[in-house]
Amino acid sequence: MARLLPGFRLGSFNIDVPLVLAPMAGITDLPFRRICRRFGVGLTVTEMVASRAVDMKRQRTERMVQVDPDEHPVAIQIAGSDPHYMREAARWAVDHGADFVDINMGCPVKKVCKQLAGSAMLRDERLVRSVLDAVIEAVDVPVTLKIRTGWDEKSKNVARIARLAEQAGVAMLTVHGRTRAQMFHGQANWEDIGKAKEAVSIPVIGNGDIVDGESARRMIEISGCDGIMIGRAVQGNPWVLAEVRAVILGDPPPTPPTPEQRWHIVREHLEHLKEHHGERTAVQLARKHVPWYSKGMHGAAEFRRAFQQLQTWQEQLLAARNYFLNHHEQLHAYAA
Ligand SMILES: Cc1cc2nc3c(=O)[nH]c(=O)nc-3n(C[C@H](O)[C@H](O)[C@H](O)COP(=O)(O)O)c2cc1C
Repeated sequence: MARLLPGFRLGSFNIDVPLVLAPMAGITDLPFRRICRRFGVGLTVTEMVASRAVDMKRQRTERMVQVDPDEHPVAIQIAGSDPHYMREAARWAVDHGADFVDINMGCPVKKVCKQLAGSAMLRDERLVRSVLDAVIEAVDVPVTLKIRTGWDEKSKNVARIARLAEQAGVAMLTVHGRTRAQMFHGQANWEDIGKAKEAVSIPVIGNGDIVDGESARRMIEISGCDGIMIGRAVQGNPWVLAEVRAVILGDPPPTPPTPEQRWHIVREHLEHLKEHHGERTAVQLARKHVPWYSKGMHGAAEFRRAFQQLQTWQEQLLAARNYFLNHHEQLHAYAA
């Protein structure tokens, strides 16, 4: 099979595999990104950091942007609408190892939009420009931008924002094919991603509702995008990255994970969580991540309920081991 996407250059990096792990607040921490790297993702993005949080020197903020020495290229994502704070945040991101600074203008969450940040900024194109100018002027690394297609159905301005971004000097644009009003409902509109692609010559990454190799293939066909970003489908299922990577590169599809392989990833994830966050926070985060790995498996609901009650990391490890390794038959059925 022919390779579907050739990759592109971004600053000094060759993005040979244009497959990007979506930034997800509370999820794409270092442990999760480490797992995703294993499955061949070409670029990772940290969780979003609020620009006003960076000068507070909070340990938690520092931990959010911690990157591994070999985790390159990596983007650190910043959010905010005040050019002054965004400039400072961008410099801070570079000091913390960002190869690219990614600006979030896609977040639909009320708390973020109230401060006219995230996707709310799409309504004010002059403000978009001043934030982009401030950030691009502040750092030497490429600045990338993540947007939605507009505020709502009536005010979609994806092509205009794309052009404005390119003129300002943005090096890569990611478009989540939903408006802010859609939040996460309905379907992502991949044709709207194509409108951004037609409007500019910088790389455009398509995002929204990719769940497997086939959906990635269709998004590429419909939008003409230069790369694919995947978020929710990776939760508990990093294997989907290998599947989409194979589609992008024209490689044969990878074999589904064996029960042992699945268990090894869960165990590794638990270990990274403990090492990175300490046991207390790791236990809380594992309650979110580990049940995701059981999606579609026999007895998953019962496992999830029981797992939520566990109080220590060791109990979680044993319960997960017991569940994932003792469900060979069901796992085989799931994989089939
Ligand atoms: C729990 C969660 C947290 C998210 N946090 C961020 C974020 O911090 N920054 C951002 O740009 N997008 C964020 N997003 C949006 C995703 O990056 C992505 O655009 C969206 O989920 C659509 O892609 P998908 O259909 O592949 O999940 C988040 C999404 C989810 C589900």
